[in-house]
Amino acid sequence: MSEKQTWPKMQKMKEAGEKIAMLTAYDYASSSMAEKAGVDIILVGDSLSNVVQGNDTTLPATVDEMIYHTKAVRRGAPNTCIITDMPFGSYEVSIEEGVRNAIRILKETGCDGVKLEGGAERAELIKAITAASVPVMAHIGMTPQKIAQMGSFGVQGKSVEAAQKLLDDAKKLEAAGAVQVLMECVPTPLAAKITEALTVPTIGIGAGNGCTGQVLVWYDMAGMYDKFCPKFVKKYAEAGALITQAMADYVKEVKDGSFPDEAHSFGLKNAEEILPRLY
Ligand code: KIV
Repeated sequence: MSEKQTWPKMQKMKEAGEKIAMLTAYDYASSSMAEKAGVDIILVGDSLSNVVQGNDTTLPATVDEMIYHTKAVRRGAPNTCIITDMPFGSYEVSIEEGVRNAIRILKETGCDGVKLEGGAERAELIKAITAASVPVMAHIGMTPQKIAQMGSFGVQGKSVEAAQKLLDDAKKLEAAGAVQVLMECVPTPLAAKITEALTVPTIGIGAGNGCTGQVLVWYDMAGMYDKFCPKFVKKYAEAGALITQAMADYVKEVKDGSFPDEAHSFGLKNAEEILPRLY
């Protein structure tokens, strides 16, 4: 992508019926690959707690860690719209603390906005962060930061009441200023209805093909995370297997002495002359 991707441009994409491609990334190498691939939005997700740090939930991620990873991602993708997850504990205590953390994340990383989880109960917070000039993406449906409260998760919005609540939440978060609404694990027809009801773009993950855009965790879509694979993940590569094989080839060649060969080593001209003079 040659020109910088922005929220207003993506708003026009929804109006023109164009799809938005979003992927997570957590470091320089992956974000530069994502930018080369034409990704519109990179999410520095708190899923880094799972796929980078090996935790079972997203709860341990901290603001400092999100900032550390986002800085590296920004260096690799100067023209991609970058959004950073507000981690658990960074916005629940008070609106003031949420605004302070959102400003800190934007100011210290150069990202283009923050994402936070929750329904209508987050409307006032989103209003306040937006008023502080930090764009916010709202995340509704399955919200992994509620794992301690919920125990487990499944597809959301399956009854009339639950579906109505998701639609109401989405409308309230848009009215509060959310630039986009992300829906996780929402049935396809409901996500399509919510997309139609909103002016802002929607991004789906496990929410079918009726959303304005899609997001996946890049470790999942590249086949690099084997602890858990949700139904909505399509693996576009088996990079984990490929890299493991490359590592195994390297180990074999180190052990049998075939690496490094001459092509990967430095010679010493006049070695016969120099070496005998060493003591
Ligand atoms: O943290 C993350 O990667 C996310 C996506 C799963 C949407 O929030």
